[in-house]
Parts: sequence; structure tokens; C-alpha cells
Amino acid sequence: MKTRMIFLGPPGAGKGSQAKILANKLNIPHISTGDMFRYHIKNNTKLGIEAKKYTDQGQLVPDEVTNGMVKERFNESDVKDGFILDGYPRTPEQALYLESMLNELKMPIDIVLNITSEDEVIIRRITGRRTCPVCGSIYHIDNFPPKVPNICDKDGATLVQRKDDSKETIMKRLEVYNKETYPLIAYYTQTGLLVDVDGNRDLEVITNDVLEILEQK
Ligand code: AP5
Ligand code: ZN
Repeated sequence: MKTRMIFLGPPGAGKGSQAKILANKLNIPHISTGDMFRYHIKNNTKLGIEAKKYTDQGQLVPDEVTNGMVKERFNESDVKDGFILDGYPRTPEQALYLESMLNELKMPIDIVLNITSEDEVIIRRITGRRTCPVCGSIYHIDNFPPKVPNICDKDGATLVQRKDDSKETIMKRLEVYNKETYPLIAYYTQTGLLVDVDGNRDLEVITNDVLEILEQK
């Protein structure tokens, strides 16, 4: 299915987990600006050094930096078969930038899936999250524990906790989401592209729901 979609939703709603599963099932690239920033930070690139100042504080990286990074990603040919954007756009300015870039490429967005969740669920999900620094797999200490505690099932790497997953930074990220990203719900509702997906359900139930929504589109 050549779908071009955006995953919108608060931090910890499950965007990354769903996007990874669906990208695999649909055989399209998963483009996560959060993952891209973490890659740059890990490799100490110029962009990573700049981005770290913001990500560590739970603040958004400036639009021009983020838009530039996304534009570069869209130079790669794999996006022609569809893609899942996860965590981008995140401000009205990014949404406008994306729209004009995709219009130029003649690849308009087909659907925006808004994964909803509540603050208490989000906080529990984020504080319990562990990720694999090698393959990017996402675990949760209670919901999706690895077979051996703290070890990735796929490659044996020791799992890590994201630096911005402390309770204090999560509160900041939620505040930033409400102020900067929440307005995009109204924006994409107006364009007729937005579909709400209840994120407070089991992972597979949500995946199947999304697949059904895509079939009906
Ligand atoms: P980013 O990495 O995008 O973080 P986020 O939006 O805060 O989202 P998360 O990755 O925290 O959550 P998620 O919704 O993907 O949840 P997940 O699937 O992991 O961004 C990080 C930072 O980078 C930003 O703060 C900013 O500084 C910068 N940045 C990124 N994009 C930017 C942009 N466009 N502009 C400017 N700056 C940008 O799930 C969470 C946990 O819950 C996991 O443990 C998972 O196992 C568990 N879980 C998931 N689904 C379920 C379920 N259905 N049931 C039970 N548990 C579940
Ligand atoms: Zn791994």
C-alpha cells in the first residue's frame, strides 16, 4: 500500500511503536525526526550538537533545523513508495513547510492518524520505556518487557533509557506538545485528513484498527 501518512499525538502515545510495526508491514520507510536527532546526537555531528541543546530540555529543535533535515531525507528515493512521518510536523510552521515541499514533489499526504492518550497513561509509558541503542526496538518494563531483563531480544544489546524520559522533562514535553503541536489537530481536521485513533488500547488492537482505516481510505 503506497500510503503517505503522518502520526500525530502526544509524547508516549505510541507513535514510534506503531510506526515501526506498520512501516514493516506496509514496506514503507519510517521517518522519525526524534530518531534522526538521536542518531545525530549519538554520532556527535554538528546537527546533533545543536539539537541536543533542545532535546535534553524537552524543547523543540528550531523549525529551520528540523525542516532542513526532513528536506534532505526526502531526497532519498525510498519515499516514492509511501512513508510514515512520526513526530513531524510538530508546529504549524513545520506543517506549512511540509505541505509546500510535498506539493512540489507531487506527493501529498493521504492521512493523518492522531493517536490519543491521557497524561497518566503517557507518564507511565514514558517512564517505563527502554530502547535498544543498536536496532531502535522499543520496550516497556511492564507492558513489553524483553525476554531477559534489560537486554534486546533481537541483538543482545543492553537497553537504555532516553535522556529526555525523566519525569521532569516529560512534564516539559507535554507542555510543549499542548502549546505547539496540539493546534495541528484543528489544522488537519480542517483539511479533512485527520482520523483519531484511541491509543489507550493494546498495541495489536491499534495496529489492526489502523490497517482497517487505511483499507477504507
Ligand atoms: P520524539 O522522539 O518524537 O518523542 P515524542 O514525540 O515525545 O514521542 P515519544 O518517542 O516519546 O513517544 P511515542 O509516541 O513514539 O511512544 P512510543 O511508541 O515510544 O522527539 C524527541 C525530541 O526530539 C523532542 O522532544 C524534540 O526535542 C525533538 N524533536 C523531534 N521531532 C521534532 C520536530 N518535528 N520538531 C522539533 N523538535 C523535534 O511508546 C512509549 C512507551 O509506551 C514505550 O515503552 C512502548 O513500549 C509503550 N507503549 C506504546 N504503545 C503501547 C500500548 N498500546 N500499550 C501499552 N504500552 C504501549
Ligand atoms: Zn536491538
